[in-house]
Amino acid sequence: MQSIPLPTINNPLVDSFQRTHRSLRISVTDRCNIRCQYCMPAGLVQFLPRSQLLTYEQIERLVQALVPVGITRLRLTGGEPLVRAKVETLVKLLSSVPGVESIALTTNAMLLAEQIDELFDAGLRNINISLDTLRDSVFKKLTRRDGLEKVLAGIDAAVKRGLKPKLNAVLLRDINLEDAAELVEFALERQLTIRFIEYMPLDADGSWDGTQMISGDELRSLLKKRFGPMVMLDREDPSRPSTNFSFQNLSGTVGFIDSVSQPFCGACDRLRLTAEGLMRNCLFGKEEWDLRPFLQSEFNPERLVERARECVASKFAAHGIGTPEFVSPERTMHRIGG
Ligand code: 5AD
Ligand code: SF4
Repeated sequence: MQSIPLPTINNPLVDSFQRTHRSLRISVTDRCNIRCQYCMPAGLVQFLPRSQLLTYEQIERLVQALVPVGITRLRLTGGEPLVRAKVETLVKLLSSVPGVESIALTTNAMLLAEQIDELFDAGLRNINISLDTLRDSVFKKLTRRDGLEKVLAGIDAAVKRGLKPKLNAVLLRDINLEDAAELVEFALERQLTIRFIEYMPLDADGSWDGTQMISGDELRSLLKKRFGPMVMLDREDPSRPSTNFSFQNLSGTVGFIDSVSQPFCGACDRLRLTAEGLMRNCLFGKEEWDLRPFLQSEFNPERLVERARECVASKFAAHGIGTPEFVSPERTMHRIGG
């Protein structure tokens, strides 16, 4: 990313637990070209009409309003962001907003091979790719669609462009637990980092009960048996959710995002924007703050920031999964943005 002088940050978005907010995950669509069990229902899904999506210009304006209060790290998500036409134009718009420090993309990579050149030329360098298995039959079961070869082609294409995409895997006990070791080998061979994310109660069928989730602890002991001792690395940035480990006998690192068993809410610096323009302060939040009125007929950055402050001020200390009071959010992952 080119170095654009940082504007001074005034009055940052700090919540009642002294967490300063710096990151915004921007969902550009709730649509997806696959149907991961941990995220979407198998049947018909009611998607937002396209006319209700924020336009790229509206997203640009929203970011222009939020950078001065410290939101400088952006991640584009979905659904699957690459199913929305010309996402590279959004990358370009956002990378020219002064003060934006980083723009990243989370994708399932089904369409990455065909879009990598445009995305790269627009300045995108930071990509996370979901990869849960290397077996066709398991991919089909987990995502209820074909297309593993497209995902692998997407990863290859990104690597060919000189990028180092991070791989993200979610393991479900009865579906792809056996794939864990093979996924690690795949990543290490390519000198990529793979991160295992604990399965969170955000599945559309509401069937999460903890039994399918593989905890980081369980997985680490399984991987140690296979690959030998692992050494925990210092967390460079406490707001990053992944704890990384290196292997004593192999080169490369593997990360664990233990969002359920070891929540990292205490260092959370994230806000989320749904594709239609609602701000959320947590994946598991129940409330949404509508930013559309300040982006539609007239652009009102002051009011927009005011509403974002209300959103931040209402943030809870922690998500509380596992406590008796916990209730899964009504919105499932593809409608929030992963
Ligand atoms: N639990 C954990 N991670 C999830 N994702 C989607 N649904 C879930 C869930 N229920 C993550 C996947 C995917 C990203 C878009 O969101 O890692 O890579
Ligand atoms: Fe699509 Fe991502 Fe949800 Fe899978 S996790 S269904 S790829 S939005």
